[in-house]
Amino acid sequence: MIDWVELLIRWLHVVAGIAWIGSSFYFIFLDASLVKTSDTPDGVAGDSWQVHGGGFYRMRKFLVAPGEMPAELHWFKYEAYTTWLSGFFLLGLIYYLNAGLYLVDRGVMDMTPAVAIAVSAGSLAAGWLVYHGLCRSPLGDNEKLLAALGYILLVAAAWGYTQVFGGRAAYVHMGALVGSIMVGNVFFVIIPNQKIVVADLIAGRAPDPDLGRRAKQRSLHNNYLTLPVVFVMISGHYPMTYASQWNWLVLAGIFIAGGLVRHFFNMKHAGRGAQYWLWLAAGVVVAGVAALSAREPRPGMSAGAASFAEISAIIETRCTVCHSATPRYEGITTPPLGVVFDTPGDITSQATRIQAQAVASDAMPLGNVTGMTEAERAALAAWIAAGASVK
Ligand code: HEC
Repeated sequence: MIDWVELLIRWLHVVAGIAWIGSSFYFIFLDASLVKTSDTPDGVAGDSWQVHGGGFYRMRKFLVAPGEMPAELHWFKYEAYTTWLSGFFLLGLIYYLNAGLYLVDRGVMDMTPAVAIAVSAGSLAAGWLVYHGLCRSPLGDNEKLLAALGYILLVAAAWGYTQVFGGRAAYVHMGALVGSIMVGNVFFVIIPNQKIVVADLIAGRAPDPDLGRRAKQRSLHNNYLTLPVVFVMISGHYPMTYASQWNWLVLAGIFIAGGLVRHFFNMKHAGRGAQYWLWLAAGVVVAGVAALSAREPRPGMSAGAASFAEISAIIETRCTVCHSATPRYEGITTPPLGVVFDTPGDITSQATRIQAQAVASDAMPLGNVTGMTEAERAALAAWIAAGASVK
């Protein structure tokens, strides 16, 4: 049942995220594509002609607001709220309900599950408060300085998370932190500001242009954060990212690369041409990050292959408490993702998966709860390099 709940909420989370990011991309594009001609009336920023799904559309942006309230006005906010609520629910369901296993990594920092949950929730709230405070401070008027400082703080958060949580939880928290900032922008700034403008219109007052300007700033921040946040959310399938030695630097690079690619599209849509050097720069950063993620060979790897008896003993003590048809680890009722290592055939046939999870990275054992040693990882490495046979 819990698995079904998790799957359905995850489905909702992904669909809401697609709708949210999709509309965010669309509106940034729309804004950039507006054209002002000699017959554009006063108080209008421009029009954009578009064709989609068999119809022609003429989109128009009013500066600050139209002269009077239209009869019907469509809002875009539930996509963002649903994404956050479902995401936070998932965080709770997976990481808080079983915090001792998913959040705490004793090899990184020993703490009780309750403390780990407090650190998690507290850091998400603190992240928003710091960011929001910066935007509202005098510094908020200097876009470039704000972006530079914001980036440094993001990297600091990534580093900080890897100092308290295991790599997997650290990555998820970076995603949750950035996602929370993005939703906070919608909930605390963009929508409230728009509501004030609407109320002004109804009351016949001239709305304050600053409200729209501030909302636009947050909307632009969200735009640059979309690609990195999606990367972080899917990287959980790739231990070479989150469970590598330089996992936080990998994130630092991805935030730059994602931002550069976003910038390419923003420039292109604004009619400033296709600046392909941005792709090139993003490619160089990603290549650097990929090189960083490669683990240095483990010491003792060249010591000669271990016998299968030794390997099977290592797997038996370090892995099968969870990865067995009948798991014995508390809180694990079925073999995680169906991965079992009960027979010699189970082990040899999954040698490449073992390599990815326990040799090329430290992703498994989860939180290293079974205390796997470097020497054991080296023995696995040597055995796999020698062909992963049962001899
Ligand atoms: C404390 C329990 C536990 C231990 C011990 C453990 N694992 Fe896992 N393992 C998990 C969980 C939970 C998952 C599922 C993670 C997820 O939801 O993506 C998993 C997933 C995996 C996967 C599939 C990863 C994927 O995304 O396809 C492999 C392979 C794996 N473990 C190998 C190992 C190996 C090898 C060991 C021993 C060195 C080990 N595990 C020890 C809990 C454990």
